[in-house]
Amino acid sequence: MIKDESVEKVIDESQQGTPLALQHNVKNTRKLYIESYGCQMNFSDSEIVASILAKEGFNTTELLEEADLVLVNTCSIREKAEQTVRKRLEKFNAVKKVNPGMKVGVLGCMAERLKSKFLEEEKIVDMVVGPDAYKDLPNLIQEIDEGRNAVNVILSKDETYGDVAPVRLNSNGVTAFVSITRGCDNMCTFCVVPFTRGRERSRNPQSILEEVNDLWERGFREVTLLGQNVDSYLWYGGGLKKDFEKASEMQKATSVNFAKLLELVAQAQPKMRIRFSTSNPQDMTLDVIESMAKYDNICKYIHLPVQSGSNRILQAMNRLHTREEYFELIDNIRKIIPDCAISQDMITGFPTETEEDHQDTLSLMEYVKYDFGFMFAYSERPGTLAERKMDDDVPEETKKRRLREIIDLQQKHGLFRTQEHVGRVEEVLIEGPSKKSDAHWMGRNSQNTVVVFPKEQYQVGDFVNVKINECTSATLIGEAVGYSKNN
Ligand code: SAH
Ligand code: F3S
Repeated sequence: MIKDESVEKVIDESQQGTPLALQHNVKNTRKLYIESYGCQMNFSDSEIVASILAKEGFNTTELLEEADLVLVNTCSIREKAEQTVRKRLEKFNAVKKVNPGMKVGVLGCMAERLKSKFLEEEKIVDMVVGPDAYKDLPNLIQEIDEGRNAVNVILSKDETYGDVAPVRLNSNGVTAFVSITRGCDNMCTFCVVPFTRGRERSRNPQSILEEVNDLWERGFREVTLLGQNVDSYLWYGGGLKKDFEKASEMQKATSVNFAKLLELVAQAQPKMRIRFSTSNPQDMTLDVIESMAKYDNICKYIHLPVQSGSNRILQAMNRLHTREEYFELIDNIRKIIPDCAISQDMITGFPTETEEDHQDTLSLMEYVKYDFGFMFAYSERPGTLAERKMDDDVPEETKKRRLREIIDLQQKHGLFRTQEHVGRVEEVLIEGPSKKSDAHWMGRNSQNTVVVFPKEQYQVGDFVNVKINECTSATLIGEAVGYSKNN
């Protein structure tokens, strides 16, 4: 290698006599510690934030104690999620005592919900930034650097961060999130999201494809397209979903809906696994299921939250479908994609929920026999329609008991579903070592079920055919029988 001494010399001379701090360029030495709570979208947003701040000279650190800036990306979905964040702030407070220069900012849904009240309630907080204001972070940080508190919680009609290349945080190098819509227009009466994340808007498909292509180039093998309500994705040149009616004929003719977007992504990277979350039953159309069936690389798994099996409760929740319509959707999924996994979110103890409503939920679960489930006791959220118009009248013990019953039933159904895989050979994408054993890999099949098997010669990121020998209610255990055709 030929050394260019003249360049080295110039660098040396330029640094002579310069104070050490400037030599390193102070800006470049700042450390960002970022922590995320709640939904996948928050984790994805933190990667956008890290990217915006990397341009400002912030490097991420995993050591809270050495951070110059601590950001916490918060969740408001249930009261418990907010309490968790408040507990974390106490910890940050303790660290700040030994590192007084440390600044603390809150991002995400709690920031949006509480706005500047946060600064009064939690003295440790220097900065409050809502989910649509992350591009303003450089200005806000300058404010706090100058000793003032800073707040930006303005919600946007068109911000999708489509032009920001996320910095992948805590990445396994194999799977990544790609956000495709922001906000939600559904106004489920229990849900705080429409208030904290604003109106629904979709991201330019071109920028989605560019991100997916770039991920493939960098070795990623699976993407999850993210949105509060992905089936409602609609690109017609920008703007809010609710303004689509006002678009020109040309814009309407060239618009891209979710089924089309799935096809575009599947075709752009035929070996990349594609997942998506979340589907709201009222917005999921047959063309989406048909797109899934058409492409091998679109994973056969739908997260399809229903929240309740009772028509009366569904209506009170402003979920715009009935139990019967949900069954019809399930039947269509099973007909078009026989091996499709389906998962649920459920809420027990929504206002006025009776024992009979609860039984309806159990019988709906019996009909579907979900592969997985995420179940919660109802938590009243300030500002939602349910909080304003309904009494949180189901006693806490009743909510908990019903929750236990649906969790137990889900566990039974989980086992029923995992048993269906035993004896089959399934393609698994290796994500990393098994948590329980260093001699085993952990990956997932197309249906999103975790599969564990001996490592042998295989590597992270490989697509491997695994013979499934045993199962628990959530995990498949098997042995590799060779690389899959995708490898
Ligand atoms: N966009 C998704 C859900 C977003 S919130 C959808 O279409 O359903 C994730 C889950 O949290 C919801 O599905 C719901 O089951 C639960 N959840 C939301 N608000 C809640 C509340 N106030 N109390 C308890 N659970 C809630
Ligand atoms: Fe919440 Fe319903 Fe939207 S659960 S995120 S308002 S689809």
